[in-house]
Amino acid sequence: MNARDNLSDSLPSCKFEVPEIIFGRGMLRQVGACACRMGGKKIMLVSDKGLFNAGWVDSVMSSLLEAGLEFAYFDGITTNPKDNEVIEGLREYIRLGCDVIVGLGGGSVMDAAKAIAILVSNGGKIQDFEGHGKIIRPLPPLVLCPTTCGTGSDISQFAIITDTERHCKITIMSRCVAPDISLTDPDTLSTLPDEYVCTTAIDALSHAIEAFFSIASTSLTDVHATRALHLLTTSLVPAVRERRPQDMQKLAQASLHAGMAFSNSLLGIVHALAHPIGGLYDANHGSINAILLPEVLRFDIPAVTEKLQELSCSMGHRADGGVNALGDQIQETLESMLEACGAPRSLRSIGVRRQDLPELARRALDDICIVTSPRVAAQEDLLGILQRAY
Ligand SMILES: [Fe+2]
Repeated sequence: MNARDNLSDSLPSCKFEVPEIIFGRGMLRQVGACACRMGGKKIMLVSDKGLFNAGWVDSVMSSLLEAGLEFAYFDGITTNPKDNEVIEGLREYIRLGCDVIVGLGGGSVMDAAKAIAILVSNGGKIQDFEGHGKIIRPLPPLVLCPTTCGTGSDISQFAIITDTERHCKITIMSRCVAPDISLTDPDTLSTLPDEYVCTTAIDALSHAIEAFFSIASTSLTDVHATRALHLLTTSLVPAVRERRPQDMQKLAQASLHAGMAFSNSLLGIVHALAHPIGGLYDANHGSINAILLPEVLRFDIPAVTEKLQELSCSMGHRADGGVNALGDQIQETLESMLEACGAPRSLRSIGVRRQDLPELARRALDDICIVTSPRVAAQEDLLGILQRAY
């Protein structure tokens, strides 16, 4: 039985759930007060070396000290966070007697912070929680501070961890995984390396489009998905080219809206395929999405004709004409954005081997994101998408 066969008990209800949200320039200095409100005495701060060198870790440490809190620092996380790194973080949390986790970073850091929190209160190994609703006990308090333009992990009910034995990513979905507080300080984007501005914003673009087309989308999630699309369409290319603070702030806000949308409506084929590819090749998540998104959109469009007009409007078009014209407009805008950002355009260019495509298609059928694809995809359909994107 694959993930889509479990649809009936996997879909989220119409309840719309988001963490407490704090958003604005300079808000990083509120982290200490947030951790204090969560009842923390000793905080585990999870981050990475890049953010340490950029000075943002220091800012958070100062905020924790000002709030009278002790803290332990853990930075043993790499891109596509690994199960063994999560275990190392768990050991540190227990050894040092922490009681609240603060994650400062991109999706990798925040997903790892969530996974550490899962094991703190539930025990076992992270693979035990793969799929939907496997977490029994509530997590210790989590404050997540995103420092990229797109992950959405600071909002979402997902954590994605790489299983280093099976060389694949496991997707964990549970209401328990959403943090207590999502705190975005757009100033942190000022030190984000150029290539990550593009790839993380394209991740947010994928979140928004897939959330909008998801069969679990609602009028509430659509509001956030279309707002994210509008912000991304108007600010992604100028942000990548000029990095003006006002454009970067719009990307941070777009990420937040896209996160609120997809956390409640789930995703689709782009992410169902991106997870096995990321797990097998340790490749950049946003780059994979940039490559897959146009092909998946082409596949999805016949199943979402009634939503094309709204999507087209949110992307700034006049949205007149028939279904084919609307589909073409959307596709052209997407392609020109990807081109203008210099996003990678083929799976071959990021090191994917052609002989692995059938296995990647097979693994995508087991990913929970396939459940809400607007168009049912057989393994041959997924293989066709991968071949066209190759
Ligand atoms: Fe993503």
